Amino acid sequence: MTTKPRVLLTRLLPQSGIDMLKQNVELEINPEDRVMPKEHIVDRVRDKDGLVCLLTDEIDAEIMDAGKALKVIANYAVGYDNIDVQEATKRKIAVTNTPGVLTETTADLTFALILSVARRIVEGDTLLREGKFTGWAPMLLLGSDVCNKTLGLIGFGRIGRAVARRARGFNMRIIYYEPERLSGDIEEECGVEYKTINGLIRDADYISVHTSLNASTHHLISETEFSLMKKTAYLINASRGPVVDEKALVMALKNKQIAGCALDVYEREPAVEKELLTMPNAVLVPHIGSASVETRTKMAMMVTENIIAVLVHNTTPPNIVNPEVYEK
Ligand code: GLV
Ligand code: GLV
Repeated sequence: MTTKPRVLLTRLLPQSGIDMLKQNVELEINPEDRVMPKEHIVDRVRDKDGLVCLLTDEIDAEIMDAGKALKVIANYAVGYDNIDVQEATKRKIAVTNTPGVLTETTADLTFALILSVARRIVEGDTLLREGKFTGWAPMLLLGSDVCNKTLGLIGFGRIGRAVARRARGFNMRIIYYEPERLSGDIEEECGVEYKTINGLIRDADYISVHTSLNASTHHLISETEFSLMKKTAYLINASRGPVVDEKALVMALKNKQIAGCALDVYEREPAVEKELLTMPNAVLVPHIGSASVETRTKMAMMVTENIIAVLVHNTTPPNIVNPEVYEK
C-alpha cells in the first residue's frame, strides 16, 4: 500500500474542501477554530508534504525549513502577501492562491461599502435601533449620491474590473489607475478612462483600492494623497490594509479633508485605529470581502485541487504563483 501524502490545514474550511482533501491525503487539521500559533505550525509541518494556510498565517523561511518535505503551500486567499514567496521558490516549494472565484463576491462587498458610506446605512440602522427615529424629516441623514458620480479605481485587475461593471449600472464615470495603462480596446470595452494616480485622486468622488500588497503599494494612500482628495470624496478599501496609511486616514477624517471611508481591511488586523471606531462616517467591516457561502466553498475546492495536483498527480498546480519552481 502506498502511503498518502500528508497535509497540514491551519484552520477549518468549508466541509466540501475537507472531504475532498481527506479522500486524497492524510489530513491534520488545527483542532481549534482560531489562528494556529506559529510554534504549532513549525512543529506540525515537520512531517508534511503540503500546507494549506490562511491569509492570517505568516508563512516564512522558518516554517519552510521546518517542513523539510514541503512541496506545496496552498493559500486560501487570492492575496498571498502573507507568504514569503521568494523563500519558497528558493526551496522549490510551489505556492498557490485562489484567484477568480472570489472576484465577483469581493466586488459585491465593495459596492456594499460604497453604498453604505454614501447613504449612511449603518448610521441610520444605529439611530433606529436606539429609538431615535421620530418620523420622516427633510434633513435626516442626508448622504451623497452614488449615481452619476466619478469612481476612481486604483488597481484594475479582475476585482477592479468587476467593480467597474457594477458602477456602469449606476451610470458612474469610471477612471482607473494601473502602473501600466491598458490598451484602448480594453478601456473602451470596460468604459473606463486612464488617469495618473494623482489625477485620479483629485478627480474621484469615490476612490476604491484594488491592488495587491507589495513593496510598491505599501502606504500607497498616505498624507499627500489625502491632501489631494476632494473634501467630499470617500475612500473605500477591500484589498489589503497596509496599502492605506491608517493613521494618515484618521488625520484626514479628523481634519475633514475627506467625507468618509468604508473599510474591509486594516493595517494591523485584527487591530483597528481606535479613533476610527468613534467616527460615524467610517463604515467598518471585518475582512469579509470573499465571505459568501458559495465563494468560500469554491475557494476550498480550489485549494484542494492545487494540493492534489502537486501531491497526488505530480503536476503543476492550476493556480501557481511561482512557476519558476517548475523551470528546469
Ligand atoms: C482575501 O482577502 C483574499 O485575498 O482572498
Ligand atoms: C484579484 O483577483 C485581482 O486581480 O483583482
